Amino acid sequence: LENGLARKPPMGWMPFERFRCVTDCSRFPKDCISERLMRRTANLLVSEGYAAAGYRYLIIDDCWMEASRDKATHELLPSEDRFPSGMRDLGNYIHNKGLLFGIYHDLGEKTCMFHGPGAARHFNLDAQTFANWGVDYVKMDGCFASEIELDRGYPEFGRALNKTGRPMVYSCSWPFYKAQPDFKLIAKHCNLWRFADDIQDSVASVTNIMKQYSKSQIELTTHAGPGRWNDPDMLVLGNYHLSYDASRLQLAIWAVIAAPLIMTNDLESVRPEIKELLLNRDIISVNQDPLGQPGHKVLTSQNIQVWIRPVTPVSNFGKNSFAIAFVNLGGFAVCPLCPQIYQVQLHRLGLNSRRGYNVMDLFNRSHNLGLYTPKDTFNTRINPEGVTFYKFTVFPSN
Ligand code: GLA
Repeated sequence: LENGLARKPPMGWMPFERFRCVTDCSRFPKDCISERLMRRTANLLVSEGYAAAGYRYLIIDDCWMEASRDKATHELLPSEDRFPSGMRDLGNYIHNKGLLFGIYHDLGEKTCMFHGPGAARHFNLDAQTFANWGVDYVKMDGCFASEIELDRGYPEFGRALNKTGRPMVYSCSWPFYKAQPDFKLIAKHCNLWRFADDIQDSVASVTNIMKQYSKSQIELTTHAGPGRWNDPDMLVLGNYHLSYDASRLQLAIWAVIAAPLIMTNDLESVRPEIKELLLNRDIISVNQDPLGQPGHKVLTSQNIQVWIRPVTPVSNFGKNSFAIAFVNLGGFAVCPLCPQIYQVQLHRLGLNSRRGYNVMDLFNRSHNLGLYTPKDTFNTRINPEGVTFYKFTVFPSN
């Protein structure tokens, strides 16, 4: 969507995968969906250095509403128990922290958790309500709407947002609910779009989303770029279930495919080594690379996959650099969960600048591997259900 927003994939935080729809604040005061959770997270985004690294959108997911609209005005109402100060106040709090405010809504009759009213028949009113609250980002879900309503509704709600005059990133779940999504149309109307299943806190879910991406990658990469991004859902690292290697894997692939980096975790209890991953500036730079070209899977060899993204800098001769992720999916016959060695001549991956590439380990910038030309063989040893991730900087470059 050309609305001047999301020129780079948005970064931020959203509660859903971790906090779900917990509404009982007396029993679960720290985990319930509430202004308290949002404020606590806003504080931590800033104090722990996430905001400085780029994670600036703080997005409320489902389960923030009262069950019905205001009887008189028909406006959406935040839960009185859990958001007693109101959304405008929360928006101010978030903005005063230098962050941006996002909110969840649904295009149909109800939200996906049946929690509150959807936008049906109230597009202009709801868009205006969000603008009044100071919202900067709308995650628009598509439960309880027919395919026809989705195709009509997503563009129409986008126009309603536009009419308010307040810039709001427009995140759509449109393709997820369609048998045959028209990505050209979706890219015209949305800043980002969910194309795959809801993520879960497991490596199987991460690799399943990778599979869904690679299956449609020609289409998905054709229509993505500045202002319009594929959204493979939240970053689950920092929770319970991803190993350190699987955490690296999710981060690297999300960087390669130019995904929004929206964490879902409790920022108070992210382990230090995972925090270090989330704050890795070299990887964030790949994700936010100004060429704005999403990468894709270039080859599979047994259970090794190679994923590549073209990035800056570009050489004097017009050759770009690359970020390359080597993935070990595990499952090899003799030893299913062992590190695997993989080697490849660089020209086979499309690296053909004759002066070569300077190679840096993106997980450890002090590990410089030196210069490689297209005929050289690159070797890497990849942990099981893990990744190695390098930047190949074209030589010479300014
Ligand atoms: C859908 C979305 C999720 C989340 C839930 C909330 O499943 O895909 O990301 O927003 O709804 O109910």
